[in-house]
Amino acid sequence: MDKMFPLFVDHLCHMFMNIFALSVTISIIIPTLIPVLFVGLFVYQFQIDAVDRSNRMAKRQTIAALSPIMTTLGETANGRAVIHAMNFQSFFCKKQYKNIDRWSNFNHFSSSTFNWGIWMTQILAVFFSIGAVVLIAVQKENYTDVALIGVALNYSFLLPYFLAFFSQNSMMVRMFFTAVERLMKYDESSMPQEPEWVLKTDPKKGTWPTNGTLEFKNVEMAYREGLPPAIRDVNVNIDSGKHIGIVGRTGAGKTSFIVVLFRIVDCQKGSVKLDGKELDKLGLHTVRRALAIIPQTPLLIPGTLAHNLDPFDKYSENKLIEVVEKVGLKANGLKEKASELSVGQQQLMALARLLLREGSDRPKVIVMDEPTANIDAQTDEILQKVINEEFKGITMLTIAHRLNTVIGSDAMMVMDSGLVKEYDSAHNLLQKDNSLLATMVDALGNGVSNSLRSLAKEAADETKKI
Ligand SMILES: Nc1ncnc2c1ncn2[C@@H]1O[C@H](COP(=O)(O)OP(=O)(O)OP(=O)(O)O)[C@@H](O)[C@H]1O
Ligand SMILES: [Mg+2]
Repeated sequence: MDKMFPLFVDHLCHMFMNIFALSVTISIIIPTLIPVLFVGLFVYQFQIDAVDRSNRMAKRQTIAALSPIMTTLGETANGRAVIHAMNFQSFFCKKQYKNIDRWSNFNHFSSSTFNWGIWMTQILAVFFSIGAVVLIAVQKENYTDVALIGVALNYSFLLPYFLAFFSQNSMMVRMFFTAVERLMKYDESSMPQEPEWVLKTDPKKGTWPTNGTLEFKNVEMAYREGLPPAIRDVNVNIDSGKHIGIVGRTGAGKTSFIVVLFRIVDCQKGSVKLDGKELDKLGLHTVRRALAIIPQTPLLIPGTLAHNLDPFDKYSENKLIEVVEKVGLKANGLKEKASELSVGQQQLMALARLLLREGSDRPKVIVMDEPTANIDAQTDEILQKVINEEFKGITMLTIAHRLNTVIGSDAMMVMDSGLVKEYDSAHNLLQKDNSLLATMVDALGNGVSNSLRSLAKEAADETKKI
């Protein structure tokens, strides 16, 4: 739109001036043609309005029909391995054919109305030329200067040509505005906006949080209005420096718990406090700076590993090498594309990014969503060691499906259907036969269950010693 618009407006002005000059000259030579000209202009405006209305509607639908084509193309390209494995090629082909058919229908209609508009304009202009010829023929005695008549006739034959171009350009310009219409839909007043990033009342950098104590009170959150809450009645206090393991079946609400903490979706009921300050009352960036996450699938920005670690070039290369080596990645990998890292390596990269934050910039709460899902046992060991050494005294929430990775935590939070069903040390929970954790542990078979129980006991004994 922004590239083509000036060009088309320029053409439009050019054509308008040409048509104006031609019409004025013809009208001066054949004054009786003026009423014909006005009637012609009226009919022209009427038909161009009608064509334009249908054409814009068709163009709107054409643009909207393009989105499913692009989405399916992206989906298919990203999931090609799974599609091949499941032999779903024909399903996606059919889906895309349907999308293309739909787009073609609208596009064909749009092109047809567009061309019809141009044809109508030309026919109208031809009638005007015929009108000029007829008037001259009828009033022969009034027109004695052959040269002037030649000019008038010549110009009247040129008119259809310029008028066709004029309508083409004017319809194009109007069509371009459908793109602006779509943009206008995303303006601030019609789209829900993110809360303020930083508020004047926010605590100064370095003064908050100091401990990392979390307090969830009657928290309830639904992703959208009308959806059932993903978590509800969450009442949990997490003391500073504690390691909490969050477990539960798929869809139990573990990630949603973190979503509320980071205020990706604000809770509809209740409150979350970090070191006594309600998160809802703080700026979004103030909240997120105080927390850190190693997500299930880390966010990458296009570029090298070094660029992903330090997008604002704040740190020296030596510092980058130091943190990369600490987490077990290769220093020469800094120049490689981050998108070529495996998911496990991307998680290590997220950890390295955390290590770069030092002093008051260090987060007081770290969340890890499935940190070991994509990492082998040895790398997991490195990860745990680095975390224990570097983030001593930091509150840590770890979501895990594999119980052995979190059973040694200070406390376990067992979630089910959006509720925190159990929250206690693993050892205490495993003492109760009918606890959810005990059921989950026992379901793994005798061997694993015994080893998990002894790990939980070791952790409890360790805590008692402290
Ligand atoms: N973006 C979303 N929009 C709407 N509903 C969602 C969204 N994300 C999750 N949910 C719903 O919220 C509920 C809890 O999902 P959540 O992702 O928190 O589960 P989880 O315990 O993290 O599962 P998993 O172990 O598979 O990661 C589910 O019923 C899910 O369908
Ligand atoms: Mg999850």
